[in-house]
Amino acid sequence: MSIEIRNASKRFGDFHALRDVSLDVDSGELVALLGPSGCGKTTLLRIIAGLETADTGSILFAGEDTTDVHVRDRQVGFVFQHYALFRHMTVFENVAFGLRVKPRGLRPSETQIKAKVHDLLKLVQLDWLADRYPAQLSGGQRQRIALARALAVEPKVLLLDEPFGALDAKVRKELRRWLRRLHDELHVTSIFVTHDQEEALEVADRVVLMNSGRVEQVGSPQDVWDHPASPFVYGFLGDVNLFHGRAHEGEVHVEGIRIDSPEHRELRNGKALAYVRPHDLDIERYSPGASGIVATLSRAIVVGPIARLELEPVESNPDNPGSGTIIEAQLPAQQFRDLALAEGDTVVARPRKARVFVEDWVSP
Ligand SMILES: Nc1ncnc2c1ncn2[C@@H]1O[C@H](COP(=O)(O)OP(=O)(O)O)[C@@H](O)[C@H]1O
Ligand SMILES: [Mg+2]
Repeated sequence: MSIEIRNASKRFGDFHALRDVSLDVDSGELVALLGPSGCGKTTLLRIIAGLETADTGSILFAGEDTTDVHVRDRQVGFVFQHYALFRHMTVFENVAFGLRVKPRGLRPSETQIKAKVHDLLKLVQLDWLADRYPAQLSGGQRQRIALARALAVEPKVLLLDEPFGALDAKVRKELRRWLRRLHDELHVTSIFVTHDQEEALEVADRVVLMNSGRVEQVGSPQDVWDHPASPFVYGFLGDVNLFHGRAHEGEVHVEGIRIDSPEHRELRNGKALAYVRPHDLDIERYSPGASGIVATLSRAIVVGPIARLELEPVESNPDNPGSGTIIEAQLPAQQFRDLALAEGDTVVARPRKARVFVEDWVSP
């Protein structure tokens, strides 16, 4: 079932939790809502579910306005971060719950319930836990049971609010792969909330980046990574260094370095912000006359194949309010070893690639 959100706004007192949010989710799609804590993800999900109403705007399911449709009748399944299973019920009874509370006429027979619950437990690969109680399960198992329970009533829409947020990193990674495979089997229209960019980029067909109650960008994971629509999106999707410079006829000058920026061909001598990912900085040992940012290697962390460097710019550039802050660089560990650098040595850093935003862009 497709979902359309049309100009939804929501205030709590004077606080704008959502500002004019519009979004289309296609039938069968898995979309991630991604953004920092407090940006309105849960509020939007609760409005879609019917647990909360928008002050203005509307939500359409399969083209029909849902305003007057009760939560119970929206055919929505939920999984929350701390969705407590019923502690006094076995796994089997937890999953059967939604079927047992159906109105008499719609309620399946006991035999049908049994078959359905076992099918669902097989689907989440936990059939063997049917007689256990929630306290006897791991966190990851509990969330898979919560998902089976949500699926029992055959929802048309599945809403997942940071379902793996409370689990440790390794389990989270396993579960998101598992969720993706499950989605490919079931094709239930799903909205997955997370503040973890890696999780969103790995799981979703499309990613919706939210910031302060607004949608900043919607696109495929590749799209938003390659073509971030705003400095916020660029900064949120990965580690980044920010340099101040000037853009002039398609070239940006930052710390004495020239970077091509054809998309700003029209601009003459404007202020520019250059965002550089740590792995897009070239590092070499300092030699007099070398162009680039001269910095002291203050710390080098070499773990496995990657060396992470912290650099302190040597002389602060008065044009650049950003200088004085630590620059992060990343390079292959072998390349770092070949440079034979020690902490305290002086190096030169040069952006190989930058994403340039001209200053008047800064979001409203
Ligand atoms: N019922 C409420 N009453 C007052 N403020 C709320 C309520 N629900 C959410 N908020 C506020 O709205 C903002 C967005 O919340 P939320 O949607 O939970 O963000 P997210 O899920 O992205 O972390 C937060 O600042 C939160 O404190
Ligand atoms: Mg939330």
